[in-house]
Amino acid sequence: MSSQNMISRRGVLGSLGAAASISTFSNMPLFAQAEKSGPTTSTVADRDRRMQWWHQARFGMFIHFGLYSVLGRHEWAMEMEGIPVAEYEQLAKSFNPKPHAARAWAQLASQAGMKYMVMTTKHHEGFCNFDTKLTNYCAPKQAAGRDLVAEYYEAARSAGMRVGFYYSLMDWHHPDGARCAHDEAARRRFVEYIHGQVRELCTNYGKVDVLWYDVAWPLSAEEWESVKLNKMVRQLQPDILINNRAKIPEDFTTPEQRIQAFAEPWESCMTMNDSWGYQRADDDWKSSKTIVRNLVTCARGNGNYLLNIGPKPDGSIPVESVQILTAVGRWMNQHGDAIYSAESCEVNRSEVANFTRIGNKLYIHVHFWPGEVVSVGGLTNKVLSAKHYPSGQQIQFHQDQFRVQLVGLPAASPDPLVSVIEMECDGVPKQDMLNIRENRPRREVGI
Ligand code: GLC
Repeated sequence: MSSQNMISRRGVLGSLGAAASISTFSNMPLFAQAEKSGPTTSTVADRDRRMQWWHQARFGMFIHFGLYSVLGRHEWAMEMEGIPVAEYEQLAKSFNPKPHAARAWAQLASQAGMKYMVMTTKHHEGFCNFDTKLTNYCAPKQAAGRDLVAEYYEAARSAGMRVGFYYSLMDWHHPDGARCAHDEAARRRFVEYIHGQVRELCTNYGKVDVLWYDVAWPLSAEEWESVKLNKMVRQLQPDILINNRAKIPEDFTTPEQRIQAFAEPWESCMTMNDSWGYQRADDDWKSSKTIVRNLVTCARGNGNYLLNIGPKPDGSIPVESVQILTAVGRWMNQHGDAIYSAESCEVNRSEVANFTRIGNKLYIHVHFWPGEVVSVGGLTNKVLSAKHYPSGQQIQFHQDQFRVQLVGLPAASPDPLVSVIEMECDGVPKQDMLNIRENRPRREVGI
């Protein structure tokens, strides 16, 4: 990896456009391939100002909630099962979550160390959780009889959370939702509808922190009139952050179900099982350790982690999600500072640990605790001190040209999920694995 390809500070190299992939737990280098990105209806300087809170927030809760929650077979059931619109619409007659269910979401988010939330105001099914003058297919005018987005907004704000609105551009219910692609009059009507709803969302609730568009099928950015749309949004909400899914780059990039670092601000969104909307039978839950490891990987690449819950039709959170997030919250409560304040970290090679960095401090997040000795190869810095984190208890170590060995450690992992060691270096921590391979002295043949 060349040094120009590294991001040293948040946002500083925003215009470089370098990107690279780190797979979920990988030790691969950051920022390898080029990617075109950057603001469209804003400037880099203004984006960096607006995004300060978001970079520090690091961890957010995604909430997928809608009529599909009643079905309990994934939020794509309507399309996957080819359900006729007239049949699907009936779900609106029974979707009536218990009052203020969102308070428990916000409470869990807060407990988990999350700092912001993003809720589906309208998913692809076209049903609106918010009060809209533009359709009757919305929670206040159906069984629920009230604005679920307003409840969410109030709950999130009361818990001190930043508030995001997810809004799907694709719409399987609106009569013009597909024919807009080849019928100009339909496109005009549909775009007016979509722009009108986004205007409502940006007008009726107070300050909105994030606008999270999704699936822009079947139109292009020009046909959606995305620039005009986002200019309107910024006029109504000058501090808002807008994602890249209206087919223009805007403020941040959204790798989905994978972790990939970009030079531009990025947020990896992910499910805890395999579904975004509630799916009763989906038992493919990630462990809380996996979630912590993913969060560490995001922090290492200076990105955010938006982790999903899919509440049941009554708004209650599946017990598995509660258990996972409670354990993650316990971990974050102790180790969160090594996550929230993390800067891009070049050190990434280990088969037992991952890393974050703050200034000259390297945080070694050991997920496979090896026992009394933990070794890190290839560090090019002099290590000044090593401590258990956050207790601050000193750790003995030996360092030579090729490795640092932390010794006298407990046989069992101090933390049941991921144990953290803080190592102070004499400069920004860097690692050179090739030095080991090339220069570690070899034995004579035959010995
Ligand atoms: C996808 C899916 C959708 C989900 C979203 C979250 O685009 O269509 O169901 O809401 O990803 O990122």
